[in-house]
Amino acid sequence: MKSIHTVLCDLLGIQHPILQGGMGPYKTQALAAAVSNAGALGVISSIGMAASMLPEAAPIDAVRLFGTDPPKVILEKSIEAVAKETKRSGGVFGVNVPVASEFTIASEMFVEQAIESRENDSDIEKRLRVIITSAGNPKPWAKIKEHGLLWFHVVPSVYHARKAEAAGADVIIASGHEGGAHVSWEPVHSTVLVPAVAKAVKKPVVAAGGFCDGRTLAAALCMGAEGVQMGTRFIATQESDFEPIWKQAIIDREERQTLVGRGVFGPMRFLRNNRSEQIVEQTLRDIPGFYLGQPVESNEDILGIERSGFVDLMGEKPETALMLGGEVTGRIKDIPTVKDLIASVIDEAVKTLELAPKRVKTK
Ligand SMILES: Cc1cc2nc3c(=O)[nH]c(=O)nc-3n(C[C@H](O)[C@H](O)[C@H](O)COP(=O)(O)O)c2cc1C
Repeated sequence: MKSIHTVLCDLLGIQHPILQGGMGPYKTQALAAAVSNAGALGVISSIGMAASMLPEAAPIDAVRLFGTDPPKVILEKSIEAVAKETKRSGGVFGVNVPVASEFTIASEMFVEQAIESRENDSDIEKRLRVIITSAGNPKPWAKIKEHGLLWFHVVPSVYHARKAEAAGADVIIASGHEGGAHVSWEPVHSTVLVPAVAKAVKKPVVAAGGFCDGRTLAAALCMGAEGVQMGTRFIATQESDFEPIWKQAIIDREERQTLVGRGVFGPMRFLRNNRSEQIVEQTLRDIPGFYLGQPVESNEDILGIERSGFVDLMGEKPETALMLGGEVTGRIKDIPTVKDLIASVIDEAVKTLELAPKRVKTK
């Protein structure tokens, strides 16, 4: 089988230029191990682990998902588990740390834990290569690089990409508005965002939002990116930590069936069902300026709805469960193993790129 190699592969020491997006509320521990074993970058998600620190703002029940360990210990154990499960393959992995201002204490703690885990174990030091920050100001996080880690930052615009590059990020992940979960107040979709960011910065760019197969990987490379980050696509895999009803919902939806409503740190893209319709209705009622980027003050009612949505997720009620996902849900129709998925993405991307000069003649 042919492969696709870019500078992203060299930088991380991975075989395929594919990152698994961080995806709370789960730890994505099993998924990260499977992705890393398949030669791409698996990523542990920390956001849900911090829910017990912010009980008034969290729509999920942290104890139900993670037990009673303190958040730092949850991450420590998760890093150890992924390292153990990927020891034989020598796979590389990372940790995602959202750095929204509401989250600073937790973000500091998770970055510290990743550094400590590397210091305490030479195998983890070699294979936990990167911290991916998102959802906030990059400037305070350049210190990640002082500890021998790579530092990637997720951005929704050219303005934010320049800021991340100026702060010293090694790779800029340009995340378009079609993506699942948190999206920007000012919508810019991937076909506009990715080439614009690739032109604006010198650092390697990874494309996120709407990528799920070989055609879209090939398109990302043509738009100037060095690889893709996929979220929604990885939820619907055999190994992913997500609830079966969430995986099924992704398969069942067509591309029109997502909605953006009030999320934890701002707008969030949900899979469409009765629950997300209720969130959008309440968003419009409580905070009518929300879609114009006005600050969220009163959100108690919406939080209550989201909490009920979490209970219904655990109760496997698909119509009222709280489930996030990107527009790309409409292009996902199966639940493969991670290994088969990555092989098919690479195979189709190779074919697409090789076919291009035969389909399109330049004169
Ligand atoms: C269920 C879900 C949860 C997510 N949680 C996080 C998160 O905790 N941190 C983060 O940086 N991005 C998060 N994202 C965004 C993904 O990392 C990724 O960038 C995005 O899903 C890419 O768009 P796609 O869904 O079209 O593949 C989440 C996405 C989904 C679908």
